[in-house]
Amino acid sequence: HGTSRVNALGHLEVGGVDTTELAARYGTPLYVVDEALVRRRCREFVDAFQASGLKFQVAYASKAFCVMAMCRIIAEEGLSLDVVSDGELFTALQAGFPPERIHFHGNNKTPAEIEMALDAGIGCFVVDNFTELRMLDAIAGSKGKRVPILLRITPGVEAHTHEYISTGQIDSKFGFDLGNGAAFEAVQESAAANHLLLLGVHSHIGSQIFEVEGFRVAAEKVAQFASQVRDELNVVFSVINLGGGFGIRYVEGDTPLPMSTYVEAIAEAVKTRFEAVSYPMPEIWIEPGRSIVGDAGTTLYTVGTHKDIPGVRKYVSVDGGMTDNPRPALYQSQYEAMLANRASEPSQETVSIAGKCCESGDMLIWDVELPLVQTGDILAVASTGAYNYSMASNYNRIRRPAVVFVKDGMADMAVKRETYEDLVRNDVVPERMKQIQS
Ligand code: LLP
Repeated sequence: HGTSRVNALGHLEVGGVDTTELAARYGTPLYVVDEALVRRRCREFVDAFQASGLKFQVAYASKAFCVMAMCRIIAEEGLSLDVVSDGELFTALQAGFPPERIHFHGNNKTPAEIEMALDAGIGCFVVDNFTELRMLDAIAGSKGKRVPILLRITPGVEAHTHEYISTGQIDSKFGFDLGNGAAFEAVQESAAANHLLLLGVHSHIGSQIFEVEGFRVAAEKVAQFASQVRDELNVVFSVINLGGGFGIRYVEGDTPLPMSTYVEAIAEAVKTRFEAVSYPMPEIWIEPGRSIVGDAGTTLYTVGTHKDIPGVRKYVSVDGGMTDNPRPALYQSQYEAMLANRASEPSQETVSIAGKCCESGDMLIWDVELPLVQTGDILAVASTGAYNYSMASNYNRIRRPAVVFVKDGMADMAVKRETYEDLVRNDVVPERMKQIQS
């Protein structure tokens, strides 16, 4: 997919760059991002909305992968940006991301985070609960501001890959519940608040979703709610945000829809439902994360040791693991891999790829077919662009890898590999321990 191909040397190439050269130049593990593919995904969403004729905003959910270079690309593609912490906000601002296109999410924004975002002049807060609603109104008041907000509502729709469940479930840490009247009260309270400007509502139904039905049902519930508050409170929403969650392909058998299909289904559902209640057409906002950057990422590793247990399994260890990709350990996520340096050779054995952490759960892939794997081979794992670097850790004091963006034969470092110095940068040996004789 994307710009990946096997070159004349039989090596995996991404963005016109030979990945074995990247491994040699930057070392491994290495995250490689196919910039053209990221940009293509951004445009797929924007083009589909433009075709729908509706007003829209596509906000990239930066939690998927938030580094300054990525923020620059998102800014240049004209998307908005969803942040959920002071750290993501800081990264975006440092990258020069236009603050008015930043949306602030999260179920526990601290007073300090709220002040930081207000001072930066961000576009909108997605308010999660009553504590935040009142705190935001008070802090905005103390600064003499009126802030645009969306209310996050819990529509009682949950989607998981191929199924969606309309549960009416209210046991979630996020949002105001539609079912028990909390959402209605939140609208009342925000409309009456002096320092809040209620734009509309937000709902997010899940992640890695392959079907449009969940989005349709969420749109329907939101439309019902919108007409209820218009009729009973005389409040009209100008924005409906339906969140993210559009699925991508990790392994064979994953069947994502073209991004335009999700957008068309959402636009259609909102149009139909809102027309049915003669409601002025709101702007539609969405928040894709994984689907913007997930399949644009490839991680390169160097193969190290082997352990063959005859009749049982062959373990092949690489120089990274759960520290750079915790998803298999956390969610039993599956990945595909190939040998980047012998990309045209046929598969000859089934091996399992182990990480280097001191933990038996640190397995990247169970049972992958590869050519006979040798120490020193470069293993490329696909679709690691989302929730890999952003969830990486220093467990076992392993240094976080570098990130390189590739495009049209050029490779540019976007994040440097951590150094040993970085690892101890914040360590302090208390004075009294310096006296201890070693
Ligand atoms: N908007 C909201 C309010 C969200 O909570 C999320 C993801 C998104 C947008 C973006 O969803 P996406 O388009 O990326 O599916 N760490 C997990 C994924 C957690 C997603 C949390 N929220 C993983 O690695 O699969």
